[in-house]
Amino acid sequence: ILPKVYVTRKVPPDGLDILRKSGQVQFEMWDSDDPVPRVELLKKVKGCDGILCVLTEKIDAQLLDAAGPNLKVLSTMSVGFDHLSLDELKKRGIRVGYTPEVLTDAVAELTVALLLATSRRLIEATHEAKTGGWGTWRTLWLCGHELANSTVGILGLGRIGVAIAERLKPFKVKKFIYTDVEPRPELANMIEAEYVSLDELAKESDFLAICCALTPETHGICNWNLFSKMKKNAIFINTSRGGVVNQEDLYEALSTGLIAGAGLDVTTPEPLPTHHPLFTLKNCVILPHIASASYTTRNSMSALAANNLLAGLRGEPMPKELKL
Ligand code: GLV
Ligand code: GLV
Repeated sequence: ILPKVYVTRKVPPDGLDILRKSGQVQFEMWDSDDPVPRVELLKKVKGCDGILCVLTEKIDAQLLDAAGPNLKVLSTMSVGFDHLSLDELKKRGIRVGYTPEVLTDAVAELTVALLLATSRRLIEATHEAKTGGWGTWRTLWLCGHELANSTVGILGLGRIGVAIAERLKPFKVKKFIYTDVEPRPELANMIEAEYVSLDELAKESDFLAICCALTPETHGICNWNLFSKMKKNAIFINTSRGGVVNQEDLYEALSTGLIAGAGLDVTTPEPLPTHHPLFTLKNCVILPHIASASYTTRNSMSALAANNLLAGLRGEPMPKELKL
């Protein structure tokens, strides 16, 4: 009898093919683009040996209890793992797979796009062009801030931060600085980035890119204390998780001109309600969590998630396993 697996979302074809062709599992999938209702999920995971999930599913004690003692492997199609209760997984001896690296290029690319859209006010500009605001060519109209000769700060230097810096360098950035819980010389050397304190990062960055994982330590780390130290011309970019930002403080900073602009691919909650004050600000560009959304990358993520799951069920090392 084959191991039983529940797949919590319609995953891209590459991952699905791997599961189908493996002949190793009997799996059921929530065959929809929308999340499975929690009640349904709790029923479906019962007795499963493995679960393949996406980041909208809270994998907590309640869900693990509902799954029961057969559960050996949890594979998430994401690099982020803040939706997983790692303590509960560890306590139960459940192995966890995730999808780092395959999405680095796509996320870095989108981060650069969001940064430029924010600093050069692209969304505002297309809106003006379309709605009659383009009366004539004006000397300071829609002026923004340029990357040339700037200092770019990275909060949380990992693979994605490095990939962003590599892409920004040709824009003639003067200096890269970063902070993290400790210096990361190997990664920093690749982009000649200097290690600074969080305070210095806030004070010196013309562009600040948030690239850290959401953990209890980074929760709300981008708050008034940080924004109030930033430059007036600073552009704040977040493609990590909404939870690292105190959104009330960000709103204040943007609406009072304390900083110049913000580009957010992630918010709290997701989706951000359409009446949220941040949507009223011209200097805030909000995207619906699409940093890894290229066809190639989403397929690679689904394939890696499938391979992690199958390896875990065979009791073999996973291609990408989270150390608990
Ligand atoms: C996307 O946010 C991911 O964690 O993969
Ligand atoms: C801009 O279009 C210029 O010609 O300076």
